[in-house]
Amino acid sequence: MEDLYERIVADLKQKQTISPEDLKTLLADREETHESRLFAAARERAVQTFGKQIYLRGLIEFTNYCKNDCYYCGIRAGNARAKRYRLSEEEILACCNRGETLGFRTFVLQGGEDPFYSDDDICGIIEKIKKKHPDCAVTLSIGERSREAYRRFFESGAERYLLRQETANEAHYSMLHPPAMSAENRKRCLWDLKEIGYQVGCGFLVGTPGQGVSEIYEDLIFMQELQPQMIGIGPYLAHQDTPWRDKPDGNVTDTLRLLSVLRLLFPKALLPATTALGTADPKGREKGILAGANVLMPNLSPAAVREKYLLYDGKICTGEEAAECVKCLSDRIEQIGYTVAESRGDHPDFCQ
Ligand code: 5AD
Ligand code: FES
Repeated sequence: MEDLYERIVADLKQKQTISPEDLKTLLADREETHESRLFAAARERAVQTFGKQIYLRGLIEFTNYCKNDCYYCGIRAGNARAKRYRLSEEEILACCNRGETLGFRTFVLQGGEDPFYSDDDICGIIEKIKKKHPDCAVTLSIGERSREAYRRFFESGAERYLLRQETANEAHYSMLHPPAMSAENRKRCLWDLKEIGYQVGCGFLVGTPGQGVSEIYEDLIFMQELQPQMIGIGPYLAHQDTPWRDKPDGNVTDTLRLLSVLRLLFPKALLPATTALGTADPKGREKGILAGANVLMPNLSPAAVREKYLLYDGKICTGEEAAECVKCLSDRIEQIGYTVAESRGDHPDFCQ
């Protein structure tokens, strides 16, 4: 086992490959010494590419209205108990102003799929942010839209887009989503974004019902084709007002090992230690960084709306002000021997 594990980590490091059998072995292994060798290899690779620096992205959750009904998600349209809100353009711009003062150089506009904001509205918001904060990057995370919409947002100045595929396997995708949604359209969106010229972020949920090693392997293969600049993964966590309230949560160990695998397969990718990971384990985000992640996404949304953007139960940081989260995160980063990066944190291939 010792030798086998060494060989798997060596293949990941040197050849940037992993077979389905090796992935299975790696996830099933229960030896902590093996695991810590995998984490160390991934961490070293991250440090080689980025140094001991962590990029912060200011997350602005500007609407929790959503027209979709994903079975796992707390803001699904069918959740009548969710208290809905939308931020006005002024409120979004105020978050950015606050964010810039706090040192952020990236704003992530995230929301449910909310048709209330037309393509023109989104373009207008992007243009105003870029005008006021020309040194900052704008990342969109607003779900599936037309290729034309993506093109217009890009021309308005958005340079990055996050859209997790959630699972690359079509049958598994259909288990997680109602019939109106498809893995095919999701992937179409990702390819469109890539072709338009965005720095693209995809990713998957860890530990959703029906996910086995072969589904995860398909995600890896899909991402090797897509070659995204960013990859977000986090454990699936149940939300009480969804049809999946009784499904067991995804696990932290699997998430950390997969983060390490991703770091070794995609040495230059931006990998967040996600809020879901920090919710599943109080030290989850630190552990994520020590397993190869190099991005954190603190919340910049106004405190009054935070507890309404609940994708899953128990979400952390809903009571804190943005400044408190930034302070808390910088302390945590420093405690593990890293520092907060000051640059925008573009993907190495996109740095001017
Ligand atoms: N648990 C964990 N992550 C979730 N997301 C949505 N619902 C949940 C949940 N219940 C993730 C999805 C989405 C991202 C914004 O949040 O992967 O892409
Ligand atoms: Fe928000 Fe710690 S990061 S309170």
